[in-house]
Amino acid sequence: MSEAARDSRLLLVMAHPALEKSRANTRLWAASEGLAAVTRHDLYETYPDFVVDVSSEKKKLVEHDIIALQFPFYWYAMPALMKEWFDLVWLHGFAYGKGGTKLAGKTLFVTCTTGGPTSAYHALGYNRFTMEEFLRPLEQTADLCGMVWETPYVVHGARIKSPEALEAEAQRFRARLTGLVGRTVAS
Ligand SMILES: Cc1cc2nc3c(=O)[nH]c(=O)nc-3n(C[C@H](O)[C@H](O)[C@H](O)COP(=O)(O)O)c2cc1C
Repeated sequence: MSEAARDSRLLLVMAHPALEKSRANTRLWAASEGLAAVTRHDLYETYPDFVVDVSSEKKKLVEHDIIALQFPFYWYAMPALMKEWFDLVWLHGFAYGKGGTKLAGKTLFVTCTTGGPTSAYHALGYNRFTMEEFLRPLEQTADLCGMVWETPYVVHGARIKSPEALEAEAQRFRARLTGLVGRTVAS
């Protein structure tokens, strides 16, 4: 008898310290609304004082097959609250190390927006490194936790793109999410 299968459950964890002033992330966030099997989690809205509820966050991670992160690129990294969330929740014995198998087999999908244009993220550009290189710490985090690294979705030049171009990015992002949850897993 074949094993029953279901769509993947995706947890979209978003961190933007000033979403009300955002041009790009606000559109990406809106585009993720109303998708079956997608749970949306706004870190700055949930934890304005940076007091992260570790057990509730662990439970959320365990209950989903795909962990998607969405954030604006700040100083070549994620915003501070998302780093705090990693530091407090992705613990030894839970995410990695002895007995730390709770995230193994899940997928990690990163979406971020940059102010710099595509051309800046190149060996000869002013940022000198590619996004693939800047995102290596997250790629390695996935590997350490036994997770599958999904090709990231990056929106460059977020501050200069037209509203129409940003809306098109948001719809492409929604299509990526739809494709990811459409992947079946054994139930
Ligand atoms: C504190 C801070 C740091 C930033 N660091 C970078 C950076 O390292 N690289 C980059 O390309 N853009 C950087 N930016 C620009 C943001 O990435 C950009 O404004 C954002 O992705 C646009 O998305 P939003 O409209 O949702 O805010 C930075 C912006 C701020 C406020």
